[in-house]
Amino acid sequence: MYAIRERERERVFILLIVLFKTNTIYFYLCRDISQILSLLNQRQKQQVEPTVAAPSPINKDKYVELKIVDDSKFNYFNKQDIIDLETKGYLVKDQFLTNTKDQQEQQQLSIQDIYLECDGLYESKKLKEANMSRGDGKWNDKSIRSDSLVWLNKETNKDLQEGRLPNISKLLQRIDNLRIELNNTINYASEKTQTQLAIYPNGGRYVKHCDSFLGGNSRRITIIYYLNYEWKQQDGGQLRLYDGRNGSTSDVDPIGDRVLIFLSEHIEHEVLESNCDKRMAITTWLY
Ligand SMILES: *[C@@H]1O[C@H](CO)[C@@H](O)[C@H](O)[C@H]1NC(C)=O
Ligand SMILES: *[C@@H]1O[C@H](CO)[C@@H](O)[C@H](O)[C@H]1NC(C)=O
Ligand SMILES: *[C@@H]1O[C@H](CO)[C@@H](O)[C@H](O)[C@H]1NC(C)=O
Ligand SMILES: *[C@@H]1O[C@H](CO)[C@@H](O)[C@H](O)[C@H]1NC(C)=O
Repeated sequence: MYAIRERERERVFILLIVLFKTNTIYFYLCRDISQILSLLNQRQKQQVEPTVAAPSPINKDKYVELKIVDDSKFNYFNKQDIIDLETKGYLVKDQFLTNTKDQQEQQQLSIQDIYLECDGLYESKKLKEANMSRGDGKWNDKSIRSDSLVWLNKETNKDLQEGRLPNISKLLQRIDNLRIELNNTINYASEKTQTQLAIYPNGGRYVKHCDSFLGGNSRRITIIYYLNYEWKQQDGGQLRLYDGRNGSTSDVDPIGDRVLIFLSEHIEHEVLESNCDKRMAITTWLY
């Protein structure tokens, strides 16, 4: 009698342990699943705003230190531009096509011709809706980013390789000259570049983001050439630049023949709603 009771008690005890263990497993399982879900959620959020804290400025007055090593090599830029880039993190230059000391560069190249070639790419459906990506993820959401784009890299673009974009090619050479000038004047060595044409439709925008993020690519300088030679204030589509030090903002009008240059890692920015048919810009990144 006693032995049987003892055995039953043992069984109940084992049953209790089993129940407890499965419960514990269940508890951990749930906890892990909820953790995985919250991680996924976080990832999703990061993807929507592909931005992490930019590296801190070196001090409150300067984002970076850019030392002029040879001021005789200045052509498009001057000393003040370099100071602006260091302190404000960006600079704006107008009349890009004509404002050069280089005689050869001053040869006729018109923004209308470049615009026409870009428009030709658009009309022949060479531009694709922009996607947002991080790691393996890729997705599309027009309320966040609504431009269409085509890459204009010589290594991959057939139209460039086969000489079908002579005006764009010349512009790209001029933009590349900026890279060479930065190399020669402030020792800004950059071997790799990437260029794209982006067109925003009426109502298009791109929410606040950073062109370079920690653990991601290593874009260092963003150079934007605006093609909107008939731009009017009511067309909108300004680029809003954020000062990471105090959150103050500056809006740059996307006026045709204007070049906007900023520090990709430091300057968060946003394309405000554009209200014209096609807001066009060619962007080159220096890595
Ligand atoms: C630039 O475009 C114009 C008109 O679109 C064309 O006539 C001209 O040949 C192009 N420029 C060059 C250098 O080919
Ligand atoms: C964006 O993704 C869509 C669907 O996968 C694709 O058709 C399109 O070419 C992508 N856009 C770019 C610019 O790669
Ligand atoms: C960069 O400048 C250095 C000299 O300062 C020069 O040796 C090098 O060829 C330049 N590179 C480019 C791409 O211009
Ligand atoms: C924000 O900080 C920058 C750099 O210190 C300064 O130039 C600018 O005036 C500041 N803006 C405001 C609104 O305080």
